[in-house]
Amino acid sequence: MRRVGGEGARSSFADDVRRGLTATPKFLYPKYFYDELGSRLFEAITALPEYYVTRSEAEILRARAGEIVAALGGPLWLVELGSGDGQKTRLVIEALLARQETLEYVPVDISESAIETSSRSLLLSYPDLRITGYIGEYHAALRMIRKERVRPGRTLVLFLGSTLGNLDPKERLAFLRDVRNLLNPGEGFLLGVDLEKPESVLIPAYDDPLKVTAAFNLNLLVRIDRELGGGFDISTFRHRALYNGAEGRIEMHLESRRDQTVPIRGLGLEVSFAAGETIHTESSYKFRREQIAALAAETGFELRRTWTDSRGWFSSNLLIAT
Ligand SMILES: C[S@@+](CC[C@H](N)C(=O)[O-])C[C@H]1O[C@@H](n2cnc3c(N)ncnc32)[C@H](O)[C@@H]1O
Repeated sequence: MRRVGGEGARSSFADDVRRGLTATPKFLYPKYFYDELGSRLFEAITALPEYYVTRSEAEILRARAGEIVAALGGPLWLVELGSGDGQKTRLVIEALLARQETLEYVPVDISESAIETSSRSLLLSYPDLRITGYIGEYHAALRMIRKERVRPGRTLVLFLGSTLGNLDPKERLAFLRDVRNLLNPGEGFLLGVDLEKPESVLIPAYDDPLKVTAAFNLNLLVRIDRELGGGFDISTFRHRALYNGAEGRIEMHLESRRDQTVPIRGLGLEVSFAAGETIHTESSYKFRREQIAALAAETGFELRRTWTDSRGWFSSNLLIAT
């Protein structure tokens, strides 16, 4: 296991919370959802009937993983960004192990618990797998992987779950260029992207009746209370999910139910909220298919092929480094 960023992580959480809660409008970065409880809550979200994202992508990979890896030649090694619980990765790993005897898998995730739990479980299932996990942020981890990994074959990078949609347009381009920098021409990048669809499908996926997504969102305040000495009373905030049509994205917010001032001792800060005021905690952009080809071309890739699920809700895109 390799740790990326080390001690800097706690101070950047503090700095980012200060920055986000003193801004107008208030915001927090979604990467901070994923402490141990947050990672488990996200895993629970992926099992919700309303959260079509995971099931749609798994449907594609179940049917197409063999075809996808065959398109790249081999042998391959696998780098996965934001690997999470690694459940869908199993479909790609199995397709690769059907073509080669061993496989080196390099998961990258900001969540230490996600990397540890998923790696243990994958190693039990696949004796021919070798895993080196990187705990930290995409950019720093990619830089470290580029510097220190001996490449046991051609590279395939995975970025599943439409996590790309959590990045704003500028971050998205920088991220794709970072991935491109890891690759040699002809190597592959499998990018899972959620497609535009009616609001009547989107809203329940981000505001489920069991309130699991609400707990995932509110856990960010619990984390600030625990790690930064915050005084949030979470019963005075509620989860909101809305579709921002102009930006083409779902937004998640935490809305204050009343006027209040919340102390955050570790930051020496008091944060005032008006009733109805929100903290913007996550965006999930939804894409049109032609946007994906344009993004690929802009960042040094060619979009080789797109597969969709039977409802046409989700896309798996094979990008090739040019
Ligand atoms: C939306 S989840 C997707 C998980 C999994 N790939 C899937 O498809 O179910 C995003 C994952 O990326 C990780 N993550 C979020 N921001 C990150 C960052 N800046 N650097 C590294 N990992 C990050 C989270 O811990 C989480 O596991």
